[in-house]
Amino acid sequence: MSSDNISIRQIETFAELRAVEELQKEVWGIPDMDVVPLTQLIAAKAAGGVLLGAFDAHTLVGFVYGFVAKEDGEMAHHSHMLAVKNAYRNFNLGYKLKLAQREEVLAQGINLITWTYDPLQSLNAYFNFTKLGVVCDRYMINFYGEEASSFLHQSGTDRFWVKWLLTSERVVKRINSAKAELENLSDKLLIEIPGDVNALSDEVAWEWRQRTRSSFTEALEAGYVVREFYREGETGIYILGK
Ligand SMILES: CC(C)(COP(=O)(O)OP(=O)(O)OC[C@H]1O[C@@H](n2cnc3c(N)ncnc32)[C@H](O)[C@@H]1OP(=O)(O)O)[C@@H](O)C(=O)NCCC(=O)NCCS
Repeated sequence: MSSDNISIRQIETFAELRAVEELQKEVWGIPDMDVVPLTQLIAAKAAGGVLLGAFDAHTLVGFVYGFVAKEDGEMAHHSHMLAVKNAYRNFNLGYKLKLAQREEVLAQGINLITWTYDPLQSLNAYFNFTKLGVVCDRYMINFYGEEASSFLHQSGTDRFWVKWLLTSERVVKRINSAKAELENLSDKLLIEIPGDVNALSDEVAWEWRQRTRSSFTEALEAGYVVREFYREGETGIYILGK
């Protein structure tokens, strides 16, 4: 597979919107009740939201979806979902969808995209911090309640609330260079996560949750900001700076 033949464009037709519903179920393994439905997608899109798909010929193989938001009193865009079909992963499609989303949002005169993700997921950590250059100063405990219906998000639903400052030097530099250059931070703090939390038993994953929940909460309260992530062997390391 190569991503060269994949096109990224607006999701327009009802059939394509239905395909977004199906892809949510496939990627997150969620029940119908938890799917963001076609009507909500249409309304959000009409009100300034962004819904883009990655298509292999006519088949939807990935999408990104978000809506207009407010952050600290300023206009922002909140990205609610990003998904790529299993067989199409690791070909930069997720990255291309985010870059296309960034362009759409910038064209609306908005400079900030926020989203949430589970800080124990190392793939997402790498994707968000290293490839895209987000920063995070908010940790939300059980953001979606104590139980998640998605198999991808167990041990409660703690989330990082990340900010992608679209025109910042950091982000522009990161998306323009092939290899991310991690920032050189002074007064830094390291917080470790497992390399693959999804492969751990529920008990061990829960221990990681508790440990990292208190480390992140304390560090952010003390004024640290999460700025980088890297993988080292079996573990992942977040770097926080002041
Ligand atoms: C997150 C997701 C959209 C990424 O899509 P994708 O097309 O595979 O993304 P990309 O190919 O652009 O980037 C993935 C990167 O993660 C890396 N990666 C893969 N497995 C990894 C792991 N276990 N730990 C850390 N990084 C990992 C890849 O090597 C790649 O980086 P590289 O380009 O430097 O090699 C896709 O994995 C997905 O749909 N996941 C399930 C839903 C989800 O988590 N959505 C996002 C919520 S924020």
